[in-house]
Formats: sequence, C-alpha cells, structure tokens
Amino acid sequence: MNQTLAIIKPDATGAGRAGKIIAHLEEKGFKVRAMRMTRLDQRQAEAFYAVHRERPFFDSLVSFMTSGPVIPMVLEKDGAVAAFREAIGATNPEEAAEGTVRKLWAESIERNAVHGSDSDENARQEIGFFFSDQDLLSI
Ligand code: CMP
Repeated sequence: MNQTLAIIKPDATGAGRAGKIIAHLEEKGFKVRAMRMTRLDQRQAEAFYAVHRERPFFDSLVSFMTSGPVIPMVLEKDGAVAAFREAIGATNPEEAAEGTVRKLWAESIERNAVHGSDSDENARQEIGFFFSDQDLLSI
C-alpha cells in the first residue's frame, strides 16, 4: 500500500464541506491513517509551499492557507499519489473532471478545496511536515 498527504483547505473547512470530502474519499477506497485539524501560521504555510515561492500567486496562497483551519491527512491506497490526484481533479476546478472533489466542492484555482502530493518523494516529505511515525494508525 502507498501513502499520500492530503489537506482539506480553509475554503472547504469554512464551508462545512470537510465531512463530505472525507466520506467521498473513503468511498473511493482511501484509508485514513492519520488526521488532525490545525491552523497554519505564515511561517508554516511559506515552508510547506516553498517550491512556489517565486510564483505570482505565492503571497495570496499563503494568506489563503492561513485564513482558517486545515485538515491534513495521511491517506493509504494502492498507487495513492496518482489515485488521489485523479480523485481530486485538475488544480483549476473549471478544468476538473466530473465527479472529482474539486469539480464538486472547489471555489476557484486558489480556493480549490484540497491539496494532494504530486510524487511519492514529496508525499514522504509532506507527511513528515505534519505527522510523525507514531501518528500513523492501522485500521
Ligand atoms: P495545491 O495543489 O495545493 O498546490 C499549489 C496551490 O497553489 C494550488 O493547489 C492552488 O491552491 C494554488 N494555485 C495554483 N495555481 C494557481 C494560480 N494560477 N492562481 C492562484 N493560485 C494557484
């Protein structure tokens, strides 16, 4: 089994969509191995998205990601990284396929409901950003 790091973002937690999104992902076969609700401070959001530091949307992204609670989760499934990216759809909800999390619940390209790791290596790094080995539970 493989793992990926998912984050339910402040637009979705604020709109009361977290439960629906988690249920949708469980129905798609993802197992929640770790989960918590937290609020990122500016330093944490800048560090998590450091790869985007030079992008024009970076400051706005950091402001959005610190605007309310987020729910990071470790999800497990065969081929978790690719399976999760397929389940959430394109970054821009206008381009996301029917039935994906972002098509169903995202507001915009920035306020796009969820984050998912884009490679196994980044998944390991992003899981370590939020969780330690003791946080991972088998169901
Ligand atoms: P995520 O998958 O978390 O990775 C980087 C985030 O930056 C992305 O989701 C969006 O929230 C945001 N993002 C990506 N592209 C843009 C863009 N063109 N304009 C605004 N925000 C963006």
